[in-house]
Amino acid sequence: MAHPARFRRLLLGAAALALTFVLAVGGGTAWLWTTADISTVGTTEFTRPLAIPPLADSTVDADGTRVFTLDMQSGTTEFEPGRPTDTWGFNGTYLGPTLRAANGERVRVQVRNTLPEASSVHWHGMHLPAKMDGGPHQMAEAGATWTPEWTVAQPASTLWYHPHPHGATEDHVRRGLAGMFWIDDDLAGALPLPHDYGVDDLPVIVQDLRMRGQQLDGTRAIMRDVGFLGDNTMVNGTIGPYQEVGDELVRLRLLNAATARTFTFAFDDARPFALIGTDGGLLERPATLDRVRLSPGERAEIVVRMRAGERTILRGERLDAGLDFWGNRFAGGDDTFDILELRAAETLRPSPDLPATLVAPSTPDGSDAVTERHFDLTFAKINDTEMAMDRIDATVTRGTTEKWVVRNSDGMPHNFHVHDVQFRVLDYAGAPPTPDLAGPKDTIFLAPGTTATLALRFDGPADPTTPYMYHCHLLWHEDRGMMGQFVVVEPGQEAATPPRHAH
Ligand code: C2O
Ligand code: CU
Ligand code: CU
Repeated sequence: MAHPARFRRLLLGAAALALTFVLAVGGGTAWLWTTADISTVGTTEFTRPLAIPPLADSTVDADGTRVFTLDMQSGTTEFEPGRPTDTWGFNGTYLGPTLRAANGERVRVQVRNTLPEASSVHWHGMHLPAKMDGGPHQMAEAGATWTPEWTVAQPASTLWYHPHPHGATEDHVRRGLAGMFWIDDDLAGALPLPHDYGVDDLPVIVQDLRMRGQQLDGTRAIMRDVGFLGDNTMVNGTIGPYQEVGDELVRLRLLNAATARTFTFAFDDARPFALIGTDGGLLERPATLDRVRLSPGERAEIVVRMRAGERTILRGERLDAGLDFWGNRFAGGDDTFDILELRAAETLRPSPDLPATLVAPSTPDGSDAVTERHFDLTFAKINDTEMAMDRIDATVTRGTTEKWVVRNSDGMPHNFHVHDVQFRVLDYAGAPPTPDLAGPKDTIFLAPGTTATLALRFDGPADPTTPYMYHCHLLWHEDRGMMGQFVVVEPGQEAATPPRHAH
């Protein structure tokens, strides 16, 4: 039988222990909490002119093929003068040139991998044969050259390219491997839109950044379940960027090239702007908005009106996606950034008014869908399955339209990207698509608990052996296995087993 005094001592000891535990956890939580939200609003000094990625050189072969060369290379970049940082880039040390080709044009890209490790180059948003897609099945070994070739068959749009090695995509993109690929066509070219590259039509590649000493720091902080989040932003590899503009209307081609962060872009004075295009091309008509949300991989083309002599700042605002208190904080949703300052000249060249209508829709409306598939996203799986290189998850028939119902069943943000196609959003969270979801899309943000229905048409060509990917474009999630594979086959044909790879 326990002695009462001894029992009391024991009880007191246990209580003290519990109290210590509560204090430690609580203190740790408070520390995590206070260190978790970041803001560069009001403190950013815009001291560097925005770098504009050069337009990629190309040659045209006798048969009319436009040929580009992209060298994947390592080197050092001085984000701050006198402080060399180890980085990777295409034809340079950070990011890459902007490739431009016309709808209907045959293109070939010589990708030379001079990096110390295997990688790949994926043409995000491009409709092309699976073997040319540059996903994890088209690796370029260190020292090797990979030369994809295809005919551009899609409307004017703002696409991009980046590596896609399974398990290492976040790392390769964050080191600096990304660039834009713009498609032109006669229809868009004839519209009175700003289209002078680097003058009134600006590539705006937004990324997260954190430095440790003078090196890029890519570590994922504790509880940051979305992946790497930085404490600053840069545009086109420029920290604290400003751009002088000389036209009344300026077109910004926004690309969220961050690996995990979802940005809500708005101007510091909340001025309205015109959204004219989404991932895969122009809208039917401009839409007036004062903010646009882009998750990793998404693009938006916006046109902003400037007044002579003024300055305005493009900002990243708080994420409003129905996340709970904690979820929002640790997903970076409470962070705010001053991203890019636009400085208007004292006199501006007049710009023609935006046209009332732009282009006819190029995506299917889903009325002829032959199949409905469901994709359920929970970290880090799709339909409770992790990515496997030698498993085909879906077989679609060339020339058919399908409905894909994608759902985020998780408490954290995800998005959903499909290779090879631009899709139409039929509904989002039970409602018809808002203007930012009304154009051609290849990537869609999914707030926790949200379902979206997409209509996709697979025009081929068929290749039962080589899969395309669909995945969450929060790259750490993708690397962890939130990815699946589909093949396009001829009617009646079956999927074959993709070859195993050495990686
Ligand atoms: Cu931008 Cu599969 O990726
Ligand atoms: Cu892609
Ligand atoms: Cu995800």
